[in-house]
Amino acid sequence: MKTIRDLAPERLEGRRALVRVDYNVPLGEDGEVMDPARIRASYPTLRLLLKRGARPVLLSHLGRPGGEPDDSLSLRPVARFLEEDGGRPVTFGGAPESDGALEASRELEDGEILVMENTRFHPGEKQNDREYARRLARLGDLFVNDAFAACHRAHASTVGAAEVLDPAVAGLLVEKEILALDRVRVDPEAPLVLVVGGAKIADKLPLLRSFVDHVDAILAGGGVANTLLAAGGRGMADSLVEEEALEQAREIREAAGGRLRLPGDLVVAPGPDAGDRSRVVEEDVPEGHAAFDIGPDTMDRFTAVIHESATLFWNGPMGMFEKDPFREGTDRIAGAVARATERDAFTVVGGGDSARAVQEAGHAGDVSHLSTGGGASLEYVSSGRLPALDALDDDEH
Ligand code: 3PG
Repeated sequence: MKTIRDLAPERLEGRRALVRVDYNVPLGEDGEVMDPARIRASYPTLRLLLKRGARPVLLSHLGRPGGEPDDSLSLRPVARFLEEDGGRPVTFGGAPESDGALEASRELEDGEILVMENTRFHPGEKQNDREYARRLARLGDLFVNDAFAACHRAHASTVGAAEVLDPAVAGLLVEKEILALDRVRVDPEAPLVLVVGGAKIADKLPLLRSFVDHVDAILAGGGVANTLLAAGGRGMADSLVEEEALEQAREIREAAGGRLRLPGDLVVAPGPDAGDRSRVVEEDVPEGHAAFDIGPDTMDRFTAVIHESATLFWNGPMGMFEKDPFREGTDRIAGAVARATERDAFTVVGGGDSARAVQEAGHAGDVSHLSTGGGASLEYVSSGRLPALDALDDDEH
């Protein structure tokens, strides 16, 4: 994989670098950035580009607006944050397919950064539409992919524009992520433990299937575990379960056998805001209730396995950790991963939510690598490929 470091100075100086970043960050009610980790993770690339005289034009998606404009998912507040936090002049360029955006990219001066509006406000983004990709590509003289967390998406801003522009290279964040994930993927030291949870079940189950033969233990929590439990016949009542994935979940249970560890006890409640009425159950989730966290026995079992690991990859929280009454399972996992790291295990935490949980538990500096990507890191570790990386120039290019 070629990176911005491999480019000759004349390919950068005075050139517009179209940089795909992943600024898909949680925003508060007034548009304030709640977790700037992904934004700050792009600073090394932006600094290097600016130092070499390139003019960064940034593309990103934010949330899932469904191909049409949605003010609550505008990148405008993110651009403001970037200017205040990054200490460089930042201009907002509006819709990236517009002629105004093209003009703004041409007017960009040395030391300035241009941020475009959410690429997912246009239906062409997710369809990887050629015409839309061509319009995006007009904004740069070269393409840089630093959106590690979106590299599993074959969209116009990740794949289409990279195919139009030459050179098309990786940024420093993508490079750093791949180096860390390769330590989990290629000849990991055993025992290799995968901890998986969270809500994007349809994305995660197919990847879990390909992991099964390589791991020593899979610890599942959150929505992923709910679906696997439901596939084994447990009554999950109102819990988040992906019905369409049940068949696949059954296959995974069969293929993984004893290596798949599922929650026994669960913390259940009548709803996410009814934490005061939560209780621990060991059997079916009662009618009118949903599972929101793993129970205390499961926490003990899971942390014991984590303590024995030599390599560990964690993606997705154990429950609805953003609500205080349901965060203990995720916190306990974060603490156990930090202790395993202290004992010399190589530990990677991937995904916006799990990374946030580790940060909030005060363990951000205590894991080997905190990845910005959830689905992307899982897909890369399980298959060794990502569509957006395949679209970049290789070393021989
Ligand atoms: C993420 O948050 O995992 C990435 O930004 C990708 O977002 P998506 O799942 O909506 O494609």
